[in-house]
Amino acid sequence: MKRKKGRGDRRDGYYWLAKKMGYRSRAVYKLIDINKSFEVIKEGDRVLDLGAAPGGWLQYISEAVGIDGYVLGIDIRPIKPLENKNVDTITKDIFDDDIIDTIRSKYNKRFDVITSDISANISGIWDVDVIRSVELNKRVIDLADNLLRRGGNLIIKAFEGKETSRLFKLIKERFRAYRIYKPKASRKRSSEIYIICFGYKPPKTSKKVL
Ligand SMILES: C[S@@+](CC[C@H](N)C(=O)[O-])C[C@H]1O[C@@H](n2cnc3c(N)ncnc32)[C@H](O)[C@@H]1O
Repeated sequence: MKRKKGRGDRRDGYYWLAKKMGYRSRAVYKLIDINKSFEVIKEGDRVLDLGAAPGGWLQYISEAVGIDGYVLGIDIRPIKPLENKNVDTITKDIFDDDIIDTIRSKYNKRFDVITSDISANISGIWDVDVIRSVELNKRVIDLADNLLRRGGNLIIKAFEGKETSRLFKLIKERFRAYRIYKPKASRKRSSEIYIICFGYKPPKTSKKVL
Protein backbone atom coordinates (compact mmCIF):
# COMPACT_ATOMS: atom_id res chain seq x y z
CA MET A 1 0.00 0.00 0.00
CA LYS A 2 1.29 3.46 -0.88
CA ARG A 3 2.09 5.56 2.22
CA LYS A 4 0.38 8.93 2.38
CA LYS A 5 2.69 11.93 2.50
CA GLY A 6 1.87 13.59 5.84
CA ARG A 7 3.04 16.89 7.30
CA GLY A 8 5.82 15.11 9.18
CA ASP A 9 7.07 13.24 6.10
CA ARG A 10 10.60 14.50 5.50
CA ARG A 11 11.19 12.39 2.37
CA ASP A 12 11.39 14.96 -0.41
CA GLY A 13 13.23 14.92 -3.76
CA TYR A 14 16.64 15.43 -2.07
CA TYR A 15 15.95 12.50 0.26
CA TRP A 16 15.24 10.16 -2.67
CA LEU A 17 18.15 11.52 -4.69
CA ALA A 18 20.53 10.90 -1.77
CA LYS A 19 19.21 7.35 -1.47
CA LYS A 20 19.64 6.74 -5.21
CA MET A 21 23.18 8.13 -5.24
CA GLY A 22 24.23 6.15 -2.14
CA TYR A 23 24.67 9.18 0.13
CA ARG A 24 23.89 8.71 3.80
CA SER A 25 21.99 11.98 4.21
CA ARG A 26 19.97 14.47 2.17
CA ALA A 27 22.11 17.13 3.93
CA VAL A 28 24.88 16.28 1.47
CA TYR A 29 23.08 18.39 -1.15
CA LYS A 30 23.50 21.49 1.03
CA LEU A 31 27.27 21.05 1.07
CA ILE A 32 27.41 20.25 -2.66
CA ASP A 33 25.49 23.48 -3.35
CA ILE A 34 27.76 25.50 -1.01
CA ASN A 35 30.91 24.09 -2.57
CA LYS A 36 29.70 24.64 -6.14
CA SER A 37 28.88 28.26 -5.26
CA PHE A 38 32.00 29.12 -3.21
CA GLU A 39 34.71 26.49 -3.95
CA VAL A 40 35.60 26.17 -0.29
CA ILE A 41 36.86 22.57 -0.45
CA LYS A 42 39.44 21.70 -3.12
CA GLU A 43 41.35 18.65 -4.30
CA GLY A 44 44.14 17.73 -1.87
CA ASP A 45 42.62 19.61 1.08
CA ARG A 46 42.76 18.29 4.65
CA VAL A 47 39.30 18.77 6.16
CA LEU A 48 37.83 18.42 9.66
CA ASP A 49 34.05 17.76 9.64
CA LEU A 50 32.28 18.43 12.96
CA GLY A 51 28.87 16.84 13.64
CA ALA A 52 29.52 14.36 10.86
CA ALA A 53 27.02 11.52 11.50
CA PRO A 54 25.59 9.70 9.64
CA GLY A 55 28.26 10.71 7.12
CA GLY A 56 26.75 12.32 4.01
CA TRP A 57 29.09 15.32 4.15
CA LEU A 58 32.03 12.96 4.79
CA GLN A 59 31.22 11.02 1.61
CA TYR A 60 31.12 14.19 -0.50
CA ILE A 61 34.23 15.72 1.09
CA SER A 62 36.11 12.46 0.50
CA GLU A 63 35.25 12.68 -3.23
CA ALA A 64 36.01 16.42 -3.44
CA VAL A 65 39.48 16.21 -1.83
CA GLY A 66 40.44 13.03 -3.73
CA ILE A 67 43.17 10.52 -2.88
CA ASP A 68 45.72 13.21 -1.97
CA GLY A 69 43.30 14.78 0.51
CA TYR A 70 42.00 13.69 3.89
CA VAL A 71 38.85 14.12 5.97
CA LEU A 72 38.36 13.49 9.68
CA GLY A 73 34.75 13.32 10.90
CA ILE A 74 33.69 13.79 14.53
CA ASP A 75 30.33 13.13 16.11
CA ILE A 76 28.94 12.33 19.53
CA ARG A 77 27.12 9.45 17.77
CA PRO A 78 29.11 6.61 16.18
CA ILE A 79 29.59 6.89 12.42
CA LYS A 80 29.25 3.62 10.52
CA PRO A 81 32.68 2.96 8.91
CA LEU A 82 33.11 4.27 5.37
CA GLU A 83 35.09 2.37 2.75
CA ASN A 84 36.82 5.51 1.46
CA LYS A 85 40.56 5.31 2.29
CA ASN A 86 40.97 9.05 2.95
CA VAL A 87 38.34 9.17 5.75
CA ASP A 88 38.84 8.78 9.50
CA THR A 89 36.22 9.16 12.22
CA ILE A 90 36.15 9.79 15.96
CA THR A 91 33.15 9.32 18.28
CA LYS A 92 33.34 12.24 20.69
CA ASP A 93 31.58 15.31 22.08
CA ILE A 94 33.20 18.49 20.78
CA PHE A 95 32.93 19.93 24.31
CA ASP A 96 35.16 17.19 25.79
CA ASP A 97 38.28 18.68 27.42
CA ASP A 98 40.62 16.40 25.50
CA ILE A 99 39.03 16.93 22.07
CA ILE A 100 42.05 18.76 20.59
CA ASP A 101 44.53 16.11 21.77
CA THR A 102 42.27 13.36 20.42
CA ILE A 103 42.04 15.05 17.01
CA ARG A 104 45.80 15.55 16.94
CA SER A 105 46.37 11.90 17.75
CA LYS A 106 44.73 11.16 14.37
CA TYR A 107 46.03 14.13 12.38
CA ASN A 108 48.78 16.29 13.81
CA LYS A 109 48.68 19.31 11.49
CA ARG A 110 46.34 22.23 11.02
CA PHE A 111 43.43 21.67 8.61
CA ASP A 112 42.82 23.56 5.35
CA VAL A 113 39.06 23.59 5.93
CA ILE A 114 36.74 22.98 8.88
CA THR A 115 33.08 22.21 8.16
CA SER A 116 30.35 22.03 10.77
CA ASP A 117 26.77 20.86 10.28
CA ILE A 118 26.43 20.43 14.04
CA SER A 119 23.01 20.86 15.53
CA ALA A 120 21.74 20.09 19.00
CA ASN A 121 18.37 18.38 19.40
CA ILE A 122 15.69 20.92 18.59
CA SER A 123 13.57 21.72 21.68
CA GLY A 124 11.01 23.68 19.71
CA ILE A 125 11.51 26.68 22.00
CA TRP A 126 12.99 29.23 19.66
CA ASP A 127 15.19 31.20 22.10
CA VAL A 128 16.60 28.02 23.65
CA ASP A 129 17.46 26.52 20.26
CA VAL A 130 19.16 29.67 18.98
CA ILE A 131 21.23 30.07 22.17
CA ARG A 132 22.29 26.38 22.02
CA SER A 133 23.31 26.81 18.39
CA VAL A 134 25.36 29.93 19.25
CA GLU A 135 27.12 28.03 22.07
CA LEU A 136 27.93 25.15 19.71
CA ASN A 137 29.28 27.57 17.13
CA LYS A 138 31.41 29.44 19.68
CA ARG A 139 32.99 26.08 20.47
CA VAL A 140 33.50 25.43 16.73
CA ILE A 141 35.27 28.81 16.39
CA ASP A 142 37.41 27.94 19.42
CA LEU A 143 38.40 24.68 17.72
CA ALA A 144 39.21 26.63 14.55
CA ASP A 145 41.61 28.81 16.59
CA ASN A 146 43.47 25.67 17.54
CA LEU A 147 43.13 23.54 14.42
CA LEU A 148 42.62 25.69 11.29
CA ARG A 149 45.63 26.87 9.27
CA ARG A 150 46.23 30.52 8.45
CA GLY A 151 44.28 31.28 5.23
CA GLY A 152 41.95 28.29 5.81
CA ASN A 153 38.17 28.28 5.41
CA LEU A 154 35.29 27.46 7.77
CA ILE A 155 31.65 26.52 7.09
CA ILE A 156 29.18 26.66 10.00
CA LYS A 157 25.46 26.15 10.35
CA ALA A 158 23.51 28.74 12.33
CA PHE A 159 19.97 30.02 12.75
CA GLU A 160 18.76 33.39 11.60
CA GLY A 161 18.14 35.50 14.70
CA LYS A 162 19.38 38.28 16.95
CA GLU A 163 21.54 35.96 19.08
CA THR A 164 23.38 34.72 15.99
CA SER A 165 24.68 38.24 15.38
CA ARG A 166 27.05 37.63 18.35
CA LEU A 167 28.88 35.17 16.14
CA PHE A 168 29.62 37.72 13.45
CA LYS A 169 31.91 39.71 15.75
CA LEU A 170 34.01 36.58 16.36
CA ILE A 171 34.02 35.76 12.64
CA LYS A 172 35.05 39.29 11.59
CA GLU A 173 37.98 39.19 14.04
CA ARG A 174 39.25 35.98 12.44
CA PHE A 175 38.37 35.85 8.75
CA ARG A 176 39.14 37.97 5.70
CA ALA A 177 35.52 37.72 4.51
CA TYR A 178 32.31 35.78 5.05
CA ARG A 179 29.06 35.06 3.20
CA ILE A 180 25.67 33.95 4.47
CA TYR A 181 24.01 31.32 2.30
CA LYS A 182 20.79 29.31 2.32
CA PRO A 183 21.32 26.19 0.18
CA LYS A 184 18.48 25.06 -2.09
CA ALA A 185 18.23 21.79 -0.13
CA SER A 186 17.50 23.65 3.14
CA ARG A 187 13.86 23.17 3.94
CA LYS A 188 11.73 26.22 3.19
CA ARG A 189 10.31 26.42 6.71
CA SER A 190 13.73 26.06 8.33
CA SER A 191 15.53 29.18 9.48
CA GLU A 192 18.94 27.54 9.19
CA ILE A 193 21.65 29.40 7.34
CA TYR A 194 25.26 28.55 6.59
CA ILE A 195 28.06 31.01 7.22
CA ILE A 196 31.00 30.50 4.88
CA CYS A 197 34.15 32.11 6.26
CA PHE A 198 37.22 32.69 4.09
CA GLY A 199 40.89 33.28 4.90
CA TYR A 200 41.50 32.55 8.60
CA LYS A 201 43.87 34.87 10.42
CA PRO A 202 44.49 34.17 14.12
CA PRO A 203 43.11 36.93 16.36
CA LYS A 204 45.52 38.50 18.88
CA THR A 205 43.60 36.86 21.75
CA SER A 206 43.58 33.27 20.42
CA LYS A 207 45.19 30.46 22.40
CA LYS A 208 48.35 29.33 20.62
CA VAL A 209 48.34 25.60 21.26
CA LEU A 210 50.31 24.42 18.25
C1 LIG B 1 22.45 17.48 10.98
S1 LIG B 1 23.44 16.22 11.68
C2 LIG B 1 24.83 16.20 10.58
C3 LIG B 1 24.55 15.53 9.26
C4 LIG B 1 25.83 15.32 8.46
N1 LIG B 1 26.36 16.58 7.93
C5 LIG B 1 25.60 14.40 7.29
O1 LIG B 1 25.57 14.85 6.14
O2 LIG B 1 25.47 13.18 7.51
C6 LIG B 1 24.10 17.03 13.10
C7 LIG B 1 25.00 16.17 13.97
O3 LIG B 1 25.60 16.96 15.03
C8 LIG B 1 25.92 16.05 16.07
N2 LIG B 1 26.23 16.76 17.31
C9 LIG B 1 25.41 17.53 18.05
N3 LIG B 1 26.03 17.99 19.15
C10 LIG B 1 27.31 17.49 19.11
C11 LIG B 1 28.44 17.61 19.98
N4 LIG B 1 28.39 18.33 21.10
N5 LIG B 1 29.58 16.98 19.62
C12 LIG B 1 29.64 16.23 18.49
N6 LIG B 1 28.59 16.08 17.63
C13 LIG B 1 27.43 16.70 17.94
C14 LIG B 1 24.66 15.17 16.16
O4 LIG B 1 24.94 13.95 16.82
C15 LIG B 1 24.30 14.99 14.67
O5 LIG B 1 24.75 13.77 14.17
